[in-house]
Amino acid sequence: MKKSLILALLLAGCATPATETAKPDPKQLDEMRGTAKALLTQLGGKLKAEITANGREAAVGVCKQAAPQIAADLSGQTGWKVGRVGTRARNAESGTPDAWNAKALAAFSERLMQGEKPDAMEMAEVVTAPSGRSSLRYAKAIVTQPMCLACHGSANDIPEGVKARLQTEYPMDKATGYSAGELRGAVVIERPL
Ligand code: HEC
Repeated sequence: MKKSLILALLLAGCATPATETAKPDPKQLDEMRGTAKALLTQLGGKLKAEITANGREAAVGVCKQAAPQIAADLSGQTGWKVGRVGTRARNAESGTPDAWNAKALAAFSERLMQGEKPDAMEMAEVVTAPSGRSSLRYAKAIVTQPMCLACHGSANDIPEGVKARLQTEYPMDKATGYSAGELRGAVVIERPL
């Protein structure tokens, strides 16, 4: 290799000390998978029960309460940061992806376009920050089903009562306009190592 090229590579390395990534331990990966599944199962169950009992408009309120509560409970039980992010967020505070989560969402949307089934779609990496601190990052893809469109679909899909409720609770809402089978977001977990 030419000396000048080696120098250029070394300089490039210095300019971007950034993060190193590695594959996670299979047992840890399994544990995070279980936690992501627990979040989806618990929240899905609550949502469906509330829609059946009191209708979709009331379910907006349940989602607002239950989603952060379930995430907080799972975080408390595991000691990890557990949550959900969106490709377009409804709850800007909890639902906006950071750089790693945005990378996972971009990869998922590419994989969906290439025809991969969403059910088991996930991404996991050990990330070591320049400070030397490592964490295990995990994301599981969430794709819209027809039932989601009452609150995340286009104007025609969303009943008037739900629209009004969303307007009041989430004036900055960006999480509408989705169609069934589209990437909606991800369950995300950050586990310090
Ligand atoms: C009854 C209305 C309703 C239905 C139905 C609904 N959602 Fe939501 N969704 C909400 C609300 C409200 C929030 C914001 C919750 C919060 O404040 O944390 C939300 C937030 C989300 C988020 C977190 C990211 C963000 O935008 O803040 C994801 C992901 C999500 N929903 C996916 C889905 C999927 C997938 C379905 C179908 C299985 C679904 N939702 C069905 C109302 C609904």
